[in-house]
Amino acid sequence: MTRPTIRNRFFILRRDFALLGTNEAFRHYAARLRRRMRRPDAVSMDQNFDRRFGVDTTESSLPDDLRIRSASKKWGVHYWPTPENQFRNMLQCVQADLRGYVFVDMGAGKGLGLLMASEYPFKKIIGVEYSEALAAIAQKNIAAYDSQTQQCQDLTCLCADAIDFRLPPEPTVLYFYNPFQAKVMDRVIKNIERSLRDQPRDLWIIYYIPWEHRKFERSRELRVTESNWKFCIYQSVQRMPVLSHEW
Ligand SMILES: C[S@@+](CC[C@H](N)C(=O)[O-])C[C@H]1O[C@@H](n2cnc3c(N)ncnc32)[C@H](O)[C@@H]1O
Repeated sequence: MTRPTIRNRFFILRRDFALLGTNEAFRHYAARLRRRMRRPDAVSMDQNFDRRFGVDTTESSLPDDLRIRSASKKWGVHYWPTPENQFRNMLQCVQADLRGYVFVDMGAGKGLGLLMASEYPFKKIIGVEYSEALAAIAQKNIAAYDSQTQQCQDLTCLCADAIDFRLPPEPTVLYFYNPFQAKVMDRVIKNIERSLRDQPRDLWIIYYIPWEHRKFERSRELRVTESNWKFCIYQSVQRMPVLSHEW
């Protein structure tokens, strides 16, 4: 799987130093190095979520063979689950009545984003994950998820490459937790633009750890509503219908 491109490595460094300050950033990198060296016993922060809801979304227990057949693998980023409080903060930035919206997690991994989204009143929730092994775990998690407060029951995780996924025609919230970069992101953005031109509608994009934020910012179909080092939010540009000049 891919490592950050040189430009994206600069993005990560600049973000960490801007967010944390020099001393804290050095401490953060030293701690990360120590964690890497004892990774087999590392306790993941998402284990708390798993215990509460009877699922398995940790990064520390991944199958040896992820069974990825797509050529996009070269540009795909490793599985890492979204922290729960971060997910809530980002979703709060979407100014819409979610009852009419479909939520799509592009690169759904073990399905944690789908489960967290199901606590909101989305009409439907779809995960797109190109690893057969992870998509199967996500489906198992959906079946096992035991929450009294779940608001959306219509959840599924498809095993597919994000570049082949056709967006639903309804208003949509698209979630990206830094799943891929470079050419794959270009193709996915083109698909979003085409879909918006064919079916103009309200569409929001939540992009967590936005290595490729420039690509979204170049799009004429999207406008930025929030942008910081951790995440960016985009909304589809609402185009006025072209008026006829017949009087
Ligand atoms: C950082 S993880 C995010 C996991 C999940 N969205 C979450 O929040 O818990 C990125 C995921 O994207 C998947 N991925 C990478 N490239 C992909 C592609 N081209 N199509 C579908 N999934 C992809 C990876 O297998 C990985 O599970």
